Amino acid sequence: MIRIHNVRKSFQDLDVLKGISFAIEDSEIFGIIGQSGAGKSTLLRCINGLEAYDSGEIEVDGTVVSVKDKSKLKYLQKQMGMIFQGFNLLERLDVYDNVALPLKFWGISPKTPENRKKILELLGLVGLEDKVHAKPRELSGGQKQRVAIARALVLDPRFLLCDEATSALDPEITKEILGLLQKINRELGITIVIVTHQMEVVKQVCDRVAFLSDGVVLAEGKPEDLFVKPDRPEIRSFLREESNLLPKEGVNIQLFFSGEGSDEPVVTHMARTLQRDFSICWAKLEDFRENVYGSLVINVRKEDRESVCAFLDEKKVAWEVIS
Ligand SMILES: Nc1ncnc2c1ncn2[C@@H]1O[C@H](COP(=O)(O)OP(=O)(O)OP(=O)(O)O)[C@@H](O)[C@H]1O
Ligand SMILES: [Mg+2]
Repeated sequence: MIRIHNVRKSFQDLDVLKGISFAIEDSEIFGIIGQSGAGKSTLLRCINGLEAYDSGEIEVDGTVVSVKDKSKLKYLQKQMGMIFQGFNLLERLDVYDNVALPLKFWGISPKTPENRKKILELLGLVGLEDKVHAKPRELSGGQKQRVAIARALVLDPRFLLCDEATSALDPEITKEILGLLQKINRELGITIVIVTHQMEVVKQVCDRVAFLSDGVVLAEGKPEDLFVKPDRPEIRSFLREESNLLPKEGVNIQLFFSGEGSDEPVVTHMARTLQRDFSICWAKLEDFRENVYGSLVINVRKEDRESVCAFLDEKKVAWEVIS
């Protein structure tokens, strides 16, 4: 597991990480999400020792990450495969040799029968068995990222760190790559850390997520808990859910649906029972891994507020008046 405790980092007079703390458990897929410049990549680079942090502590598997202890750091970095937005493949090498590169770097021969088998198995795992001798320029973006994933796994890491690994891919290919990451997580038991600014990525695969804003963790938890009912204005604005489009008259009430009861026709039932009309101003349905969550904003007249809220309480629907 990865434990981050009160980590601070600045570049000259720019404070980029301002006391970051959270822990990533074994075998989970953990997301780090936030706006551009929030400090996500810097944090990831501190985790794998590509960047030094100024204070606080990062522990990976019980070992403190420190750029001062080179041999320990090298050992730790072997445990952490990395993939990036730009794939970083060597153009002059074919797929096989690109995947073999980390072995060479560690002075391990990629030519032994055992390692050949391993590389071919990895290429099978990522679905590239028919591209073993293709050059990167002959591959699509999604295929390039598959090569990069195989390369990141060739040293049998315990962690896979992904920095915007799907940001350059279209939505369909993004889904495929995320599916592959899930498979790697399940079948190989590898802990995966995903840095992204894409909400879709977090919704589709992350067990837990930390929301980073301006060098601070503003919220941490299950994606559905953080994003169905975001209580921080920064998260609402990140999700573009600022409520400035809602009617100024009457009362705006947001209803939250999650898991049980979310398929009941509460709204029409309420209209009939209370004999009241109201407008539906805004709604969203979100697919979080296997579950659907949603919320709905209705606008009611001031004098109806009390009866509507009582009805929602009786039906055990979570609600909130938007001020
Ligand atoms: N080597 C560096 N020297 C100086 N400033 C840096 C350096 N690396 C990052 N920064 C600054 O640190 C801040 C955070 O950058 P970082 O790359 O961590 O953000 P990010 O959340 O990954 O953003 P993005 O979503 O755009 O990738 C930015 O203001 C950036 O300009
Ligand atoms: Mg970044």
